[in-house]
Amino acid sequence: MRPYVIVFGNEKGGTGKSTVALHVTVCLLYEGMKVGTIDIDARQGTLTRYLEQRQHNASLPMPIHKAVFKSENDNRVQAQQEEKNKFEEAMQQLSDRDFIIIDTPGNDTYLSQLAHSYADTLITPLNESFVDMDVLVRVTGGDMRTMRPSVYAEMVWNQRKNRAIRRQKPIDWIVIRNRITTLYNKNRKDIGVVLEALSKRIGFRLGTGFCERVIFKELFVSGMTLLDLERANVQLSLSHVAARQELRDLINFMHLPGM
Ligand SMILES: Nc1ncnc2c1ncn2[C@@H]1O[C@H](COP(=O)(O)OP(=O)(O)OP(=O)(O)O)[C@@H](O)[C@H]1O
Ligand SMILES: [Mg+2]
Repeated sequence: MRPYVIVFGNEKGGTGKSTVALHVTVCLLYEGMKVGTIDIDARQGTLTRYLEQRQHNASLPMPIHKAVFKSENDNRVQAQQEEKNKFEEAMQQLSDRDFIIIDTPGNDTYLSQLAHSYADTLITPLNESFVDMDVLVRVTGGDMRTMRPSVYAEMVWNQRKNRAIRRQKPIDWIVIRNRITTLYNKNRKDIGVVLEALSKRIGFRLGTGFCERVIFKELFVSGMTLLDLERANVQLSLSHVAARQELRDLINFMHLPGM
């Protein structure tokens, strides 16, 4: 059995890929799973730095982590070959894991495309704004009826084709909203309508996602997640309990093997 691969991707920056990737990693570790993580956004290195912070606390469970950097070779063909080799080497080194979690950058790179082609599950977090939606779909006209898949949706489509050629299972693509505010407004309603319509058209499942919560920001320095707080017997606030439930809901929604 090869490891089950979960990729966090979205060509838009700052939507919560690294944050959610870390939380899913820690959740799987507490479920007793062997987890490997790969940061292909190694230059920015958010996931790598989060895990470095985490390492200072020996009581916290850790994945085996690999950072894969972009090649500095000016020759495009050689650079891609080098990146492919480094990526496949990292995958190989993690081949005894139950799960491999891959965090990708918020832009289109060769490494990111390669990682997407390995995804059993692809999670795309997006903020509730039409600016973020633009990476999935181009909405033209005020009536929101005229839509066409954007470059990112097309890239995912191409990787799905690549997997079909390699006779691999289709990617289970899940889009989740992140940093949801509690205010109800027309923007949210409009986005909900577009996402629902889109999910059928471009083939993703729409998960519930995460509300805007300070806890997701403030734990970065300690490398902890709210699941670690719970284990350390820290009194959880109502907001923490709700956040933990959101994470649980996402894990259940993913239908992961062995869970
Ligand atoms: N649910 C949330 N509530 C509050 N803040 C959040 C939430 N999710 C993420 N953030 C914050 O949003 C910012 C961007 O998150 P993150 O770095 O995870 O995004 P990203 O998609 O990985 O970004 P990039 O594309 O640059 O890699 C960070 O400051 C993070 O702490
Ligand atoms: Mg990131």
